[in-house]
Amino acid sequence: MFGFRFRMQPMKSLIMRLSLLFLLALPILACSTGVTQTPAKTTEATVAPDLAPDQSLNLEVEGEVTVETPTATPVPPVKAKRDSYYTVVRTSQPVVAMTFDDGPHKTNTPRLLDILKERNIKATFFVVGQNVAEYPEIAKRIVDEGHEIANHTWSHAWLTKLSDSGVRRELQKTASVIESTTGVRPTVFRPPYGALSKRQRHWIFDEFDYPAIIWTVDPLDWKRPGVSVVTSRIVNGAKPGAIILAHDIHEPTITAMPGTLDQLLAKGYRFVTVSELIAMEEPVPTATPKPVATATVAPETRSADL
Ligand code: NI
Repeated sequence: MFGFRFRMQPMKSLIMRLSLLFLLALPILACSTGVTQTPAKTTEATVAPDLAPDQSLNLEVEGEVTVETPTATPVPPVKAKRDSYYTVVRTSQPVVAMTFDDGPHKTNTPRLLDILKERNIKATFFVVGQNVAEYPEIAKRIVDEGHEIANHTWSHAWLTKLSDSGVRRELQKTASVIESTTGVRPTVFRPPYGALSKRQRHWIFDEFDYPAIIWTVDPLDWKRPGVSVVTSRIVNGAKPGAIILAHDIHEPTITAMPGTLDQLLAKGYRFVTVSELIAMEEPVPTATPKPVATATVAPETRSADL
């Protein structure tokens, strides 16, 4: 009995809070309905009108809202900083580049493109020139769906066994068929088998502006070790800045992709093209780094998953 008066108070308070919550929820509900219909307006609404574009709010949280990403933005033709990439690209961001070699393939590449599209993932296709000539529509679809298309020679040649003019012919012919078919000029290349001499690396970079893109994760999918093995090798090998090798000419590789990509997404990785990844490269820290204020770092930020 003694507590009755005190129980009534919280009750009143609760009703008032619920009403207030309802009133507050109205505009939020209206706003979230607007997100799916007019995504562009939502972004504008979250930026204070007096902020200049470069001062705009950090919209990272927007990623959780269903906001349509803009369609394919062409990769700007900026010359790479290095003539080759054999190691993980230095970045603090949880990004990886999926690369698919040796296509386009008549059935496997379209199937892969469907899988990527379902997840809104952009990849890089190192295509063989003669396959582009055989399947021009598939090459065009690669580009139309926002992926990067890159040079993997005309005949999948072993470049270290060719003369300079032979190498030049392999690269030029492939660049031409890619450009005439898709309207895009490739800006990176990968030597078949990763075989390239230091001298070749230098002159190809000088003459074509192509950095040689090797890889940091190789699931050896061409040996067809089984779908689950391909998946586990890729997922276990992934780390920020990784360049992952796979082949879209092998059916089991395509079958492994939904699970592989979903596991990487679940680990928090984002997918970028090779050109995007190398443009993100961060400088090596200076020799005398400032002391880290460990006391101010929350424990959970130090035990990140990646
Ligand atoms: Ni290859």
